[in-house]
Amino acid sequence: MSDLEKLEEEALREIDSASDLRRLSELRVRYLGRKGVISSALKRIGGLPPEERREYGRKVNRLKELVEERIRERERELKRRELEEKLSAEWVDLTVPVWGSRGTLHPVTLTLERIVSIFRGMGFDVEEGPEVELESYNFDLLNIPPEHPARDMQDTFYVNRKGYLLRTHTSPVQIRTMLRRKPPLQMVAPGKVYRRDDDPTHSPMFHQVEGLVVNEDVNFRHMKFVIESFLREFFRTDLPVRFRTSYFPFTEPSAEVDIGCVICDMEGCRVCKESGWLEVMGCGMVHPTVLENCGIDPELYQGFAFGMGVERLAMLLYGIDNIKLFYENDLRFLRQF
Ligand code: FA5
Ligand code: MG
Repeated sequence: MSDLEKLEEEALREIDSASDLRRLSELRVRYLGRKGVISSALKRIGGLPPEERREYGRKVNRLKELVEERIRERERELKRRELEEKLSAEWVDLTVPVWGSRGTLHPVTLTLERIVSIFRGMGFDVEEGPEVELESYNFDLLNIPPEHPARDMQDTFYVNRKGYLLRTHTSPVQIRTMLRRKPPLQMVAPGKVYRRDDDPTHSPMFHQVEGLVVNEDVNFRHMKFVIESFLREFFRTDLPVRFRTSYFPFTEPSAEVDIGCVICDMEGCRVCKESGWLEVMGCGMVHPTVLENCGIDPELYQGFAFGMGVERLAMLLYGIDNIKLFYENDLRFLRQF
């Protein structure tokens, strides 16, 4: 009997001084385990005189309950302490003022706003379209036939739903606008586009601004005037501009617009691929088939359209030699704008 008292005293002392949960679980095994101290004490019952057995058994069971109870208590205490330590170690003062680290607009956002505001000044409306677009709006209605290489998986990101894709240009917004509105109309459509492209001047996601004018007696000279006026206003200097004949299925005739490379002063560099020129947009007279596809009579109306690369214009405006810098979110880069 005095052994049991000693055992109780020792067990409770050890439990109370256990300093962490690991130590506590060692003690649980030692006292309450199947081969633990209390089980072996219970087994000794057989060697006792019959008149003492009952009293002894009662005491061992009481001891067992006491130890269980004390371990549970200690466990609660240790868990609470652990939580408190964690809370005070990871404490953050959300009320500290943040003077001096205010955000700035991203250079692509600044460039987009600059482009759109110039066109607003010329009387253009702003239209929008979805980034997950109908394949028919991105290609078919723009007179891009099913076997056209742009539709290849090499160039286009398709989504897991038949008939849909990530738009590869902002030109489907032309279709959406002409299906919804009647001429005369003049609009720009800014937004993100996606292609399987990746090098210093090509990114898999980039921004375009589409432009569309449809009216009676619209011709190529009107288009040239609008684009040249825009570029002069955008760069606020007379950079060299050239219209180079090109091909798009949705315009005829078509051209691409190049700007003299400001990175190398037209000497030739990595950005302009040693040519001295950087392509910033495609443009042309809207193909009669595209007007017809949208229910506009090409005998009565003509249109011109253009689609410009926003990052390319930003690179030239700010003198940035790699398109990747726009997407890395390096604060040393972003703080300069
Ligand atoms: C088009 O996307 C035509 N939809 C433009 C157009 C609209 C033509 C209306 C006629 C009428 P293109 O694939 O050339 O054309 O792209 C237009 C511009 O986007 C390019 O001149 C270039 O400045 C930019 N661009 C193209 N691919 C990338 C890319 N991967 N990363 C960054 N900019 C790009
Ligand atoms: Mg091009």
